[in-house]
Amino acid sequence: MTGAADHRNPIVSIVALEKHFGAFRVLHHVSLDVFPGEVVCLIGASGSGKTTLLRCINQLAQQDSGAIWVDGELNGFTIANGRLHRRSEREIARQRLATGMVFQRFNLFPHLTALENIVEGPVEVLRRPRAAAAEEVQALLARVGLADKAGHYPAQLSGGQQQRVAIARALAMHPRVMLFDEPTSALDPELVGEVLAVMKELAASGMTMIVVTHELGFAREVADRVVFMDHGRILEQGPAEEVLLRPREARTQAFLSAVLG
Ligand SMILES: Nc1ncnc2c1ncn2[C@@H]1O[C@H](COP(=O)(O)OP(=O)(O)O)[C@@H](O)[C@H]1O
Ligand SMILES: [Mg+2]
Repeated sequence: MTGAADHRNPIVSIVALEKHFGAFRVLHHVSLDVFPGEVVCLIGASGSGKTTLLRCINQLAQQDSGAIWVDGELNGFTIANGRLHRRSEREIARQRLATGMVFQRFNLFPHLTALENIVEGPVEVLRRPRAAAAEEVQALLARVGLADKAGHYPAQLSGGQQQRVAIARALAMHPRVMLFDEPTSALDPELVGEVLAVMKELAASGMTMIVVTHELGFAREVADRVVFMDHGRILEQGPAEEVLLRPREARTQAFLSAVLG
């Protein structure tokens, strides 16, 4: 009986999302549920709306219509007397902590060491005592294979190491869901594996993850579900094997052929 899974509540629920930039429709009727512990890989051509969708989930961008629930809360709004009320910036900042974002460019502070980059959030935002936070950060650095790099500055680290620091920095805020936007696209090919290995470990630990990636091998091995986006819509989705090996849609087939060369 696999019924247990069917009764879980989604941890991210996206309903009928629409977003435009001027006259350009970047997201069209996007609906997607992601369940606790699930790894969902988002694939699709450049410009199909993948980044914008992630940015809406963690409220770096705001949709024109539709709704997103994260961990049981409606993003950006409260509902009272049947009406939507915009949340304060402070409330939105609090909500944003539920999702940890890892970008294509690592966005580390160049003047801070690896440890300082990671410890900043827990101390300044979560108001954790610095000594306790630093201890936890050391453990996180060990988890991403960088125990000996705590005192290094970003310029002294490879791209793969910097990206692993960025992952540790997001994890230090104890997010419920991790969002990855092409985390290996800016890396030299020989550094991709070390970052994917950390992401694999994270997935195995039960973290809920939404991953935009062109790494189809990773998607096939790690993703529970693959979602193909095309011109702002979800064109098809399903188990990784199904979408990647037996895509139903011609556009998915064309995209996969292009990526595989
Ligand atoms: N801030 C913005 N203003 C105007 N157009 C944008 C903006 N952000 C993204 N776009 C456009 O929206 C489309 C989708 O972008 P994006 O979400 O980045 O797609 P993807 O991540 O799949 O490449 C692209 O055509 C892009 O040029
Ligand atoms: Mg993008």
